[in-house]
Amino acid sequence: MSIRRIGCVTAGGDAPGLNPAIRAIVKTAILQYGWQVIGFEDGYEGLLTGRWRTLTLDDVRGQLVRGGTLLGTSNRANPFAFAFPTDEQPRDYSDRLVSLVEALSLDALIVVGGDGSLSIAYRLWQKGVPILGVPKTIDNDVQGTIFSIGYATAVAVATDAIDRLHTTAESHHRVMIVELMGRTAGWIALAAGVAGGADVILIPEIPFSLDAIVTAIEQRRAAGRHFTIIAVAEGAQPVGGSAVAEITGPLPYQRRYGGIGLLLQAQLAQRLPLEVRSLALGHLQRGGPPVALDRLIATAMGSEAVHMLARGQLGQVVTVHGNGDNPAAIRVGTVTLADVARGPRLVPLDHPLLTSARSIGISLGEEVPA
Ligand code: F6P
Repeated sequence: MSIRRIGCVTAGGDAPGLNPAIRAIVKTAILQYGWQVIGFEDGYEGLLTGRWRTLTLDDVRGQLVRGGTLLGTSNRANPFAFAFPTDEQPRDYSDRLVSLVEALSLDALIVVGGDGSLSIAYRLWQKGVPILGVPKTIDNDVQGTIFSIGYATAVAVATDAIDRLHTTAESHHRVMIVELMGRTAGWIALAAGVAGGADVILIPEIPFSLDAIVTAIEQRRAAGRHFTIIAVAEGAQPVGGSAVAEITGPLPYQRRYGGIGLLLQAQLAQRLPLEVRSLALGHLQRGGPPVALDRLIATAMGSEAVHMLARGQLGQVVTVHGNGDNPAAIRVGTVTLADVARGPRLVPLDHPLLTSARSIGISLGEEVPA
């Protein structure tokens, strides 16, 4: 296939590293292959409403260090269930998107997206759109890749927050709960919890017992430590219970998580003679400049995506893997869009970080055997 013009869209929630990814795509496409790059605005919405512009080398100058996405994004716009202002109900507008791709003579479309946006990309691929995916999401829950763009920055921000909570929690002898993002996956809470030295880490993959948390806090008090830091993933749930979430819109972005921190605060305050406070770190985890690792991953993935197109590899997603002897080097690979559409990548119960956490006495809220 001879390529002359490609499209690029950032879809789903923003993540630090999207701009470096766009920069790498544009630079590689223009400098290595002489292709034209069209950028669509506000995620899939731009592909439905025809909002696009040509991206030049000038457009991506200075973007390596900038958070957000210069194209804009949306985590509500789904071409298979979209509502224009005149629509009473969401409708399937995917044919309209296919027509625009054809009308613009796009030879390929790169979707930089998370688990939900790449699942949509898979359905578009099945309809014949020549698509390739680049994984981004602070949640780090895309199948087949150990890192998604944005995750490293979110973990760094959350770790810094836990560091700061430590000093105030210790001074006031308080239990401080920090609620972290991640939807159904506990990657951010687990990594930031370990890196920040949280005493209790609660993730969706391991339903928690309130008794176990109370026991962990009381054991610390008995040992003379009158404060406790709890890192809780927004999707965490008690044994036999469910996550705190509300339904807000059409699939796949339907559920909005949040509130587990406040719920735990109320429940723990009833059981403990300590003051319990909670905060949700929220969108601070997604804002600001990308850390170095996200810049490296975004650059590697963005340029590899273009090389993959040149090799005719479509219907796939770029991935990164660990590199045994050189942790600073990034080895890229691929997985199919079909694999990614299987659903989010959760923390496996035998993950080494869980073993490390348990080894150093961090409570994961697991039920204590009688
Ligand atoms: O998927 C990324 C993410 O930040 C999740 O961790 C979080 O649940 C969600 O997006 C928040 O979405 P919104 O920006 O719509 O509140």
